[in-house]
Amino acid sequence: MSKTLNLISKEVSECTKCSLATHRKQPVFGTGSVNADLMFIGEGPGAEEDRLGVPFVGRSGKLLDTLLLEEMNMNRSLCYISNVVKCRPPGNRDPKLEEIDSCRPYLEKQVEIIKPKVIVTLGNFATRLLLDTKIGITKLRGETYEYLGCTLIPTFHPAAALRGRAGVIENMRADLCKAKEIING
Ligand code: URA
Ligand code: SF4
Repeated sequence: MSKTLNLISKEVSECTKCSLATHRKQPVFGTGSVNADLMFIGEGPGAEEDRLGVPFVGRSGKLLDTLLLEEMNMNRSLCYISNVVKCRPPGNRDPKLEEIDSCRPYLEKQVEIIKPKVIVTLGNFATRLLLDTKIGITKLRGETYEYLGCTLIPTFHPAAALRGRAGVIENMRADLCKAKEIING
């Protein structure tokens, strides 16, 4: 991890800026390569992530790993994975606006330091935050956007694919293919 990313990680490990600090076992800062061309941004840690301190290690994470391998021939260690909020919302409830606002500077710094070519936002929370919109993921996906000099590709959250809604997983696959094309230029 780079020096600066380390410093922010340390800050997050002690952060009590919002009420999520009271319930967490530990914050989940993010994992992967500081040189990553590809960054994934999810919503927030679940129970497994809270327990292990690593993002996307539960069922959604397993699906993400599979799609990454099958569509991009890539292992997660080559990308960088983080979340909108670094601490688990109790009972996996949605993160609140004030929690997202408190936590966003950490994510912005992660993006600035890593400077990926492509950011894939997973689901409504990450997509709406970065694109600064209230429009839903179903409408937003299928296009690419610009965010801090990176190409942003919005896609569904893997949990939506696990719920089995028609077409979700196929759309996620197509979005990862597009990410690969852009990265390989
Ligand atoms: N869902 C998320 O949004 N993030 C995780 O890290 C795990 C599940
Ligand atoms: Fe701090 Fe973010 Fe955790 Fe809130 S969610 S306590 S802002 S690290």
